[in-house]
Amino acid sequence: MKRVPVVVLASGRGSNFEAVARAIDEGVLRSAQIAAVLSDRAEAPVLEKAKRLGIPALHVPLPATQTGEKKKQLRERHDRAMLDAIRPFAPRFLVLAGYMRMMSPLLLEAFKSERGYHRIVNIHPSLLPSFPGIHSYAQAFRHGVHVAGVTVHLVNHEMDSGPICAQKAFAIDQCETADEVEKLGLAVEHELYPRTLQWVLTEDFDLKEREGGRLFVCPRGSGR
Ligand code: GRF
Repeated sequence: MKRVPVVVLASGRGSNFEAVARAIDEGVLRSAQIAAVLSDRAEAPVLEKAKRLGIPALHVPLPATQTGEKKKQLRERHDRAMLDAIRPFAPRFLVLAGYMRMMSPLLLEAFKSERGYHRIVNIHPSLLPSFPGIHSYAQAFRHGVHVAGVTVHLVNHEMDSGPICAQKAFAIDQCETADEVEKLGLAVEHELYPRTLQWVLTEDFDLKEREGGRLFVCPRGSGR
């Protein structure tokens, strides 16, 4: 199988990056090759982790705000710098692993496929559309839900709302702290992300539409 070159974008700890890299190493994820890891934060541990594995790791700083500049313009200038840093690695997909920035249309459109979706995958620590945004495990814990979960989805123009590729739920009714929920959740993430990337990266999937216009992704021939 020809491996799909991906660039990982991450802002922090990098445990999902490590899980993906390990899955490639162990032959569980056979469709991917990590060309580089990019972070918007210089101190992100993920950069060190990538370097240790011999994977190019780059920091792309957020540019200083110019007088009168709107958030949207700053985001676009940062994404332009991101694109400049990404291009030499010629990835087919971007794999987001705890990347904490919203993307501008500039970056999204650079990864648009002929079928209309963007070749950008994200993992979110909840059963979307529940608990979008940040601290989702804590949100789930505080809400008192019995079941939490993880979602892998393609990225679109809205936050945490692109076509869903895979979800996995887990019981949290025995958890006494949000940290316990996160610990269980991360173990689920580390297994679900590589397993889902394996088929998503080959693009051998159908993009289906439900009443109301919402899109979702499923492996070809899965019968969904
Ligand atoms: C994970 O919970 C992931 O689902 C979310 O951000 C967190 C990143 O953790 N998007 P790590 O940096 O991969 O350890």
